[in-house]
Amino acid sequence: MAYVRYKSTCWLYGEVMAFYFSLVMCMNSVPPVILVRTDVTRRQWSDTFVQATVKLQGWAPTAPVSLMRWISNSSESLLIPSILVEGSGFLHPKNPQFEDIFIGDFNLLLQYTDMMVFDYITANNDRLVYHLFYYVLHNDTNMLTMTTHNLQIKDRRLWLVDNEGSFPIGYDFLDTKLYNLSMFFTNMLQSSCVFRKETAARVAMLHRHGNTAKLLLEMINSHNAIPDIGYTRVVCEEQSGIMYDVEWAETLQKRVEDVFKWIELCKTKSYQELMELRNASLFIDSETIEIWKNTMKRNKMKYTAEEK
Ligand SMILES: *[C@@H]1O[C@H](CO)[C@@H](O)[C@H](O)[C@H]1NC(C)=O
Ligand SMILES: *[C@@H]1O[C@H](CO)[C@@H](O)[C@H](O)[C@H]1NC(C)=O
Ligand SMILES: *[C@@H]1O[C@H](CO)[C@@H](O)[C@H](O)[C@H]1NC(C)=O
Ligand SMILES: *[C@@H]1O[C@H](CO)[C@@H](O)[C@H](O)[C@H]1NC(C)=O
Repeated sequence: MAYVRYKSTCWLYGEVMAFYFSLVMCMNSVPPVILVRTDVTRRQWSDTFVQATVKLQGWAPTAPVSLMRWISNSSESLLIPSILVEGSGFLHPKNPQFEDIFIGDFNLLLQYTDMMVFDYITANNDRLVYHLFYYVLHNDTNMLTMTTHNLQIKDRRLWLVDNEGSFPIGYDFLDTKLYNLSMFFTNMLQSSCVFRKETAARVAMLHRHGNTAKLLLEMINSHNAIPDIGYTRVVCEEQSGIMYDVEWAETLQKRVEDVFKWIELCKTKSYQELMELRNASLFIDSETIEIWKNTMKRNKMKYTAEEK
């Protein structure tokens, strides 16, 4: 069984790129994804439920879709770990709450911080950042005590599903005036100083290498992951104007560097120093919320005025 996504080219591409980036990061937490075309004449699509769905949804008969390995029927999911949203909200070995973590939960917590690194670099705003955004938008702290969006858990393993908004699509939201999500990503990253050793080593490797985009594209090409059946990068660029260009590659590397620098700070500074240094946690103070909202409001008015 697989999850099938019927989306425009860029989103399909984002989904595939995210999977290959998880390989670059040596993270075994994104289910494999392939791109195919719908074809109801083939055995793969012959199940009556599948045929009915394709018909009901009005999918084009030979549209490109992504297939992601099915993880679980269960809707079991993980709450945002309490150490991130209680007390100082800082996941650090010197945080008194750290002692209360059970070893079994610690394993999950490490997988969770893997997700934070992965989402920071790919700028996927559809997991933890989704919660932060709605928390700020509606001043609703309930958003922080919910199960994490687009994260599945099976046999104590976390799976990052629905990664289509990764890379250029996500990067688009980092520097737009209207919904500038940059701040939320920083809040997410700087809420932890506990990372899996392999992940920290991988980030350091990408920092030394200096061209993560090249590594990623090589990985994708060597697996022939983007078969030439109509969803090439060029099609995506033509359809949406989203470009996989130098700027994209630079943003990717910049985000790797941000994580690298943060991990270096974690290594070299004390808990107390870090508490002062870091500008962010998942709790966003009222003043920052006000400033962020006002900026959005002003920009919206400006845009509306410019359009008239
Ligand atoms: C998951 O759901 C499908 C379709 O309803 C069913 O065929 C399958 O047996 C279920 N698998 C599990 C592990 O429950
Ligand atoms: C978006 O936010 C970041 C950090 O808060 C800021 O550095 C950047 O200038 C902002 N971009 C725009 C276009 O407002
Ligand atoms: C906190 O914000 C200041 C001012 O914007 C910046 O110089 C500093 O690097 C930030 N700290 C961290 C840990 O990112
Ligand atoms: C957000 O809600 C809290 C209490 O729920 C309130 O004290 C605070 O003033 C609110 N902040 C804003 C910016 O509305």
